[in-house]
Amino acid sequence: MSARACKTAVLISGSGSNLQAFIDQVAAGSISLDICAVFSNRPEAFGLERAQNAGIPATCVDHTEFDTREDFDRAVAAELDKYEPELIILAGFMRILSPWFVRHYAGRILNIHPALLPLYPGLNTHQRAIDAGDAKHGTTVHFVTEELDGGPCIVQGRLDIRPGESAATLQKRIQSVEHQIYPRAAQMVADGEIEFREGQAFRGGAPLQAPLMIDFPDV
Ligand code: GRF
Repeated sequence: MSARACKTAVLISGSGSNLQAFIDQVAAGSISLDICAVFSNRPEAFGLERAQNAGIPATCVDHTEFDTREDFDRAVAAELDKYEPELIILAGFMRILSPWFVRHYAGRILNIHPALLPLYPGLNTHQRAIDAGDAKHGTTVHFVTEELDGGPCIVQGRLDIRPGESAATLQKRIQSVEHQIYPRAAQMVADGEIEFREGQAFRGGAPLQAPLMIDFPDV
């Protein structure tokens, strides 16, 4: 992308702890994204307050006011485009995107999904990993395509599931990993180190054969 800080919009629906990680890492100088706007589809999302506290324009477009998914997505994009974002970060944005939206920002939307994709797309990932008796669990930053949780993976953070662990504690640990890997992955995309081409993730001109895997033994 460009040498100046990449204009980045963050879409949320809830707490926004990942948004906070981006805000904090920009403030600390460990990433250099320009978080130009935050959008929520839920007026009560706490992440809107986090954005306001950081002086970032925060807007809510309430999805319940629209008849179709695409109508809502077009309204979000109309707001978003006022800020001319180069990168769209989905951070707990609990809406399935229409093909129109995905094409509008083709190759420029990232999501974080709390599982080691392609394992466990969809919901309740932590409980599903525990119920399956998995030894490890993790979280994945991926490009967004029209297939839900199915776009090319960029980075994965992985940890051991502890014996007898509950879904609640696992979720907490996974979120702490997310806060470390998501801003870094976004920066790699902003810097052009990782690119979306021909439906795949590319690194250094070659297709990424597997996501970059980071183990977190101490989380
Ligand atoms: C994250 O755990 C992410 O994996 C999922 O939604 C959650 C959002 O949490 N997509 P927060 O709103 O960033 O705290």
